[in-house]
Amino acid sequence: MEYKNLLIETNEGITTLTINRREALNALNSAVIAELECALFELDLDAAVKAVVLTGAGEKAFVAGADIKEMSELTSFEAHEFARRGQRLILLISRMRKPVIAAVNGYALGGGLELALACDFIYASEKAKFGFPEVGLGVIPGFGGTQNLARLIGPNKANELVFSGRVINAAKALQWGIVNELFAPEELLSKALETAREIAGKGPLSVAYAKDAIVNGLNMTKEDGFRYEASLFGVLFATGDQREGMGAFLEKRTADFKGK
Ligand code: CAA
Repeated sequence: MEYKNLLIETNEGITTLTINRREALNALNSAVIAELECALFELDLDAAVKAVVLTGAGEKAFVAGADIKEMSELTSFEAHEFARRGQRLILLISRMRKPVIAAVNGYALGGGLELALACDFIYASEKAKFGFPEVGLGVIPGFGGTQNLARLIGPNKANELVFSGRVINAAKALQWGIVNELFAPEELLSKALETAREIAGKGPLSVAYAKDAIVNGLNMTKEDGFRYEASLFGVLFATGDQREGMGAFLEKRTADFKGK
């Protein structure tokens, strides 16, 4: 696929995926959603890629939401399909084996916040802003935002944010647990890449299985989650990476993981 709205750059196993639709503050129209889905699917299959950092082009916005101009013309049926397509992208990120870090460099509103919440964790610029303005547009979040936000920060804070449509600053997003850490705008990407490199140095199967255990375990009872964790733990003992990781520790050397 030819990417007209994405910049994709891979260095030493880390891919920086930048949404580049600056004229609309990187808003998610159907084309951007399709490109993101295709790019992330390909990156997940690429053995050379160990982690992905997702960010927005320009200084103003990560993503200012789903594209309001495009949505304003939709029929009810088309809106349902549009939401399902956005949700398929959101679910793809959680199903990917590779970790995806959101580097939120500005506005993350509506679908933009939903996209950031789909990532495995969020780093943000001190100037970033977060919110779900949908109720002011006569709709609700449609790319999984009501579900993912309430699961992340609990229903009370999610209710306040979604019902009010209020935009909160980065410090509040950090305090509420939406964001893991804040950085000066000029440092954000390098800090996200630094963490991505740290993760990339670990066993790729371990990271993939840890993500699987956390993402899927959240939808299980605690006991089922424990059982699922134990089965993934056991499977890893059938891999060369487990022998290499433990062998390297015992031999006091750095592990050289092969992802198999
Ligand atoms: N969709 C389409 N275009 C958008 C957009 C969006 N979500 N957000 C910004 N743009 C466009 C603007 O229309 C404008 O284009 P023109 O220059 O052609 O007029 C350009 O980007 C720059 O935006 P502004 O002039 O508005 O910039 P600003 O600095 O004055 O304001 C902002 C920035 C506060 C982010 C403002 O653009 C804004 O409120 N955007 C909309 C945010 C929003 O409501 N997002 C939720 C969308 S609904 C959704 O996402 C549903 C869902 O869950 C699936």
